[in-house]
Amino acid sequence: MKRIKAIYPGSFDPPTNGHLDLIERGSKIFDELVVAILRNPEKDPLFSVADRRKMLEAMTSTFDNVSVDTFDGLTVDYALRLDAQAILRGIRAISDYEYELQMALMNRKLQPALETVFMMPAEKYSYLSSRLVREVAQLGGSISCLVPELVEQKVREKMDIAHKFANGEGTIGKTLSEAKSRDRKKKN
Ligand code: PNS
Repeated sequence: MKRIKAIYPGSFDPPTNGHLDLIERGSKIFDELVVAILRNPEKDPLFSVADRRKMLEAMTSTFDNVSVDTFDGLTVDYALRLDAQAILRGIRAISDYEYELQMALMNRKLQPALETVFMMPAEKYSYLSSRLVREVAQLGGSISCLVPELVEQKVREKMDIAHKFANGEGTIGKTLSEAKSRDRKKKN
């Protein structure tokens, strides 16, 4: 019988309960699901790729058919290297659809044999995004129902570093990104 392998590509900065909901749904319909974190050196992420990978590995440890990986370059090339047949993406609301459709059609143009499968997370996560989680946390709001506990703790640690930096405590570097980078190096 043919086994279907799918990749679930994204930034996951940080991974949220919405991502986890989609991973769980995907793990039920695909034989194998690879959560693939895009390594994008141009962005200034909150978390290093290594940190995101660790968080996603911990979040998905109970699913036997889910693994976590990182990639760069085109998603379709990565999917091909893995022998995957599908790309999983989540659609939370109509506003996601236009961008997701554009990306799915471009991916189909680049690699016609690869299918994009859209799944909807639970309605309670329809407003949830990594960007909003970062913003709420940065402004001191609670993110406890938005991300798994282990992610909440990691985000809090990041915010503490940022606050300490803002207050001029405990940092020798000149910029916040230097402090973040030092913190990333310490953790990796
Ligand atoms: O979580 P995100 O940021 O919405 O994920 C976007 C992602 C990583 C799926 C998309 O940016 C992507 O596929 N990037 C890899 C480069 C690529 O293949 N670009 C062409 C897409 S049509």
